[in-house]
Amino acid sequence: MEERTVQLTENGKVIAELPIKTGTMGPSTVDISQLYQQTGKQYFTFDPGFMATASCHSAITFIDGEQGKLLYRGYPIEQLAQKSSFLEVAYLLLNGQLPTQNELDTFTHNILHHTMINESLKMFYHGFHYNAHPVAVMIGVVGSLSAFYHDSINVYRQESRIISAHRLIAKVPTIAAACYKHSIGEPFIYPDNKLSYCGNLLRMMFAVPCEEYELNQTAERALDLLFILHADHEQNASTSTVRLAGSSGANPFACIASGIASLWGPAHGGAAEAVLDMLQEIGNVSQIDKYIQKAKDKNDPFRLMGFGHRVYKNYDPRAKIIRDTCHKVLNEFSNTSDPLFELALKLEEIAVTDDYFIERSLYPNVDFYSGMIYRSLGIPSNMFTVMFAIARTVGWVAHWMEMISDPRHKIGRPRQLYDGAVSRDYVAITER
Ligand code: CMC
Repeated sequence: MEERTVQLTENGKVIAELPIKTGTMGPSTVDISQLYQQTGKQYFTFDPGFMATASCHSAITFIDGEQGKLLYRGYPIEQLAQKSSFLEVAYLLLNGQLPTQNELDTFTHNILHHTMINESLKMFYHGFHYNAHPVAVMIGVVGSLSAFYHDSINVYRQESRIISAHRLIAKVPTIAAACYKHSIGEPFIYPDNKLSYCGNLLRMMFAVPCEEYELNQTAERALDLLFILHADHEQNASTSTVRLAGSSGANPFACIASGIASLWGPAHGGAAEAVLDMLQEIGNVSQIDKYIQKAKDKNDPFRLMGFGHRVYKNYDPRAKIIRDTCHKVLNEFSNTSDPLFELALKLEEIAVTDDYFIERSLYPNVDFYSGMIYRSLGIPSNMFTVMFAIARTVGWVAHWMEMISDPRHKIGRPRQLYDGAVSRDYVAITER
């Protein structure tokens, strides 16, 4: 097939002819990688925030933001949410295909039997003050895994990459639960490999050595569902951070720690915690109008947290799925209805009928509801990003592996539009 190209002209003269690349779905891309050379080193492109720039090839996740569609390896998120489990989805994201029963059993065994962390690693927690934010602790502890697994940090060996991937996915719940236990001053609970991935996490968070722990299956299933929905979301800020960090050949534990750091921001994975803070600040229904006005005011930095998305300009499909679960979980776990949930629903109702939000396609995103579910499971708001990071570790690892094994991959090195001082001579301090 003939290669399609676009021409870039300046004053009627063609200065570059750029190939168009088309994937299996989604918009085509203009390949600008040779632009600088073709224009005689005259031009870069400028796209802060990657508004219209594809940074890599990927075959993992596809989003159609206009249609509100999300596919993992081609499978619609709605079907996976209804029929699959988090570990099956993890296998799918990592390997590209749904597993056979044997493959799933082996994978599940590998993950559920690598859940312990080195005893020395536990000392790290005690270096943090009890009120340290759990995400800060998690970043430190996950990063420090590279100091424990020298045998698997050669990123150019496929076998090492797989072992690292399994270690990360298996150990993040243990690390996360210990972050929580440290913050409340309770002893760490060892993992129990008989339990499911999410069951084990709940137990490590909520069991105490002096009492029997009874696992609640609704909680286990709700967590599994949330983890499926959060497992991957193509080239978002944290995944791009992991790819950029990993593009230099850095070890996977350091790369995932950088991903958690990026996830923490309130515009990204920190949004669920920010939603709860916001609802608490709004306080009651009579205050909603005031806060809607604040969100619309360009001179006010306040934004409605849990609303809007860079890619979804239609409803976030994850929000649709989670909204129902939110009702179910709240019914089971709250004896009385949660006033914050009622406030959230009212806020949603008002915001989605307001012209400002309609014109800008600002709909509730997944994190508008995820915090409500975590809250009803007894998980405090400063742990929400930690929970998100456990699920997203699968996506980060899948992207990191895809990048490293792609022979076309290069170190990520963006260019810039420099607008600082032009060249000038140093002035001695006495003459300034
Ligand atoms: N409240 C009020 N106005 C908003 C909001 C909001 N939450 N989000 C966007 N806008 C306005 C924004 O002011 C701008 O208005 P105008 O065109 O008049 O200047 C317009 O909508 C477009 O916004 P933008 O900032 O250019 O959009 P973006 O794609 O750069 O930002 C976003 C996307 C998610 C960072 C943003 O919508 C936001 O800050 N939302 C709140 C934080 C949040 O919920 N984040 C979680 C995202 S989902 C979880 C995840 O995947 O990480």
